[in-house]
Amino acid sequence: MLVIETAEALKAHLRPLQREGLRVGFVPTMGALHAGHLSLVEEAARHAEVVVVSIFVNPTQFGPNEDLSRYPRDLEGDLAKLREVGTSVVFHPSEDVMYPPGHQTTVQVAHVTQGLCGAHRPGHFEGVATVVAGLFGLVHPDVAVFGEKDYQQLTTIRTLVRDLHMDVEVVGAPLVRETDGLAMSSRNAYLSPEERLTALSLSRGLFRARDRYAAGERNAALLIGAAHAELDLAGVQPEYLELRHATSLVPLERADGPCVMLVAARVGKTRLIDNVILRRPS
Ligand code: PAF
Repeated sequence: MLVIETAEALKAHLRPLQREGLRVGFVPTMGALHAGHLSLVEEAARHAEVVVVSIFVNPTQFGPNEDLSRYPRDLEGDLAKLREVGTSVVFHPSEDVMYPPGHQTTVQVAHVTQGLCGAHRPGHFEGVATVVAGLFGLVHPDVAVFGEKDYQQLTTIRTLVRDLHMDVEVVGAPLVRETDGLAMSSRNAYLSPEERLTALSLSRGLFRARDRYAAGERNAALLIGAAHAELDLAGVQPEYLELRHATSLVPLERADGPCVMLVAARVGKTRLIDNVILRRPS
């Protein structure tokens, strides 16, 4: 496994392989890797001969009052995990490599970034879209894998790739949960044992809504109410708890077509997100 830090070295390594016809699969990450990330790398390996993973804590997607400085970082631990899952190249750029002096281009995806996390994290998706477009420009992946855990992010990247006519296949990989149901996240490391128990109300609520959906309920308010009841019991006030169309992310009053229920809430100081896809787009 090669660890590469500069744009020039990355291109010098990848382009000859690409000219030989090898497919490149790409997993962008911010490090602090857990089993969820590793499942993305394994998914990329199913689509490509060369698997590139980037580790870059992207400052432009953090707001001024967010956790950029305390975001968990563990490069050595990450590299050890990536070696285990057959990563070919780790790209670990500095801020100057991704945003060299004079950098002035940003990417804005309009509608799917509105509401949900977009309403609570102004500028976040512009930062994500900008860094992912930059990483795609460096890596030129055939396939890029993103987790369904960050559902609005995945939808934003799909929209970016479609609208800018990028030759990248975007693959969404299923959300990975701890055995007790908590969605895996690098931010779970911040939770105290009591907060971790409280945090379980998010997945419990979503599962309750999913059960009601499976039993035939299609009224969005009632499905949301079922999830809300679990949050109320745990004393958690969600930032949002919504039913949205699974591809356009338009808010829905009825769960008649492809749809996803999404939640975000703060538990202590930690902001957590989770979702369940009630019906996948065909
Ligand atoms: O999901 C993440 O870890 C980040 O948002 C990403 C896609 C690596 C962009 O910085």
